[in-house]
Amino acid sequence: MLSEKRILLGVTGGIAAYKAAELIRSFVKAGARVRVVMTESACRFITPMTLGTLSGGEVYTDTFETTRDGEIPHIDLAYWADLVVVAPATANILGKIAGGMGDDLLSTTMLAVTAPVLLCPAMNSNMYANPAVQANIKKLADRGCRILDADSGDLACRTTGPGRLPSPEDILEVVETMFAKKDLAGVRVLVTAGPTQEPLDPVRFITNHSSGKMGFALAQAARRRGADVTLVSGPVSLDAPPGVELVPVQDARSMRDAVMNRLAGSDVIIKAAAVSDYRPSETSLSKIKKSDETLTVTLERNPDILASVGEEKGNRILVGFAMETEDLVENAQRKLSSKNLDLIVANDLGEPGAGFRHDTNVVRILDREGGDETLPLMEKKEVAERIIDRIVALLEKRA
Ligand code: CTP
Repeated sequence: MLSEKRILLGVTGGIAAYKAAELIRSFVKAGARVRVVMTESACRFITPMTLGTLSGGEVYTDTFETTRDGEIPHIDLAYWADLVVVAPATANILGKIAGGMGDDLLSTTMLAVTAPVLLCPAMNSNMYANPAVQANIKKLADRGCRILDADSGDLACRTTGPGRLPSPEDILEVVETMFAKKDLAGVRVLVTAGPTQEPLDPVRFITNHSSGKMGFALAQAARRRGADVTLVSGPVSLDAPPGVELVPVQDARSMRDAVMNRLAGSDVIIKAAAVSDYRPSETSLSKIKKSDETLTVTLERNPDILASVGEEKGNRILVGFAMETEDLVENAQRKLSSKNLDLIVANDLGEPGAGFRHDTNVVRILDREGGDETLPLMEKKEVAERIIDRIVALLEKRA
């Protein structure tokens, strides 16, 4: 997602400097090119060799040393960067950047930077709350720097409170959002995700293997690209993506109500949830006790939420999923037309790396015009981007 993006990472001297190693790995894994500037204090917490090995590039620490190409580092690095991230950003560097000071390589480079800047403060809670630090943060935000608020939790100084550097995944998410095209700005997207649970009694239920990963990735991708996103999800163990409104539900009927109540306020509906087609006809209020008899459970049909949305969709864009074990294309085509969809994302459970629980998926996207796009095995995050690309194309066509 960050393919060939040039990120200049400034690392300053706080205990969270060790997290810079993981952060560099995640930037590199996402396809970015990374150069690192470390302050003298940062080098006391983690070595330039560690960060240089992970970034695969030079690590700069000295204002007066020229680069490999004979360039002046603070000017060259400032021109090179598409984005500058300072993580962790100590109170000291925030003060220096806010005050326009340049007394080491990082602060001097910051004076020459014209690219977008993301600052990730991390320090002791009292330092973070200090009015001088907060005033500097405000000044920098007013000046257009993106500030990622520190997390709360246990701090290295054995206190608890705000001041922790957010996780590398959270920082990566903000970076990806900063680079993302905002081609869904103002579009209201409703996504469903996860399984449903259909209760038999207070301790048992019927469900399926859905982890919610595909739906959550879609919600996150839509949000990153500027949409207002509501995510209606069955029970999963995933955190709501930042900026997404999460509506937790349990069974198919509560999912249907949550979706139908929000239909009028949605422009795009993506139904990635694995809804249980049947529920027990009766739900016992007390635990069903075992006996020597055979137990027969009668199941009755659940509402088909996607089909109901298809009937009422009007001008909205409706995307469904089809998970099949046989006759993938025939079944998907049938669902595309019978449920009045604009796109259907089909996957074959037998395909290695596809379907439930995996972080990857292998899908085909079918449309109403007979289009059939087969995507190779890729991360669900990437699949989500490709599905959103197709939705954006449909929106543009309609406009
Ligand atoms: N779906 C739904 N409500 C249901 C069942 C399915 O909204 N009660 C939606 C799913 O969210 C998905 C699509 O319909 O987007 C296809 O789901 P799938 O389980 O593959 O197909 P079904 O329509 O249930 O058909 P079948 O069981 O015959 O495969």
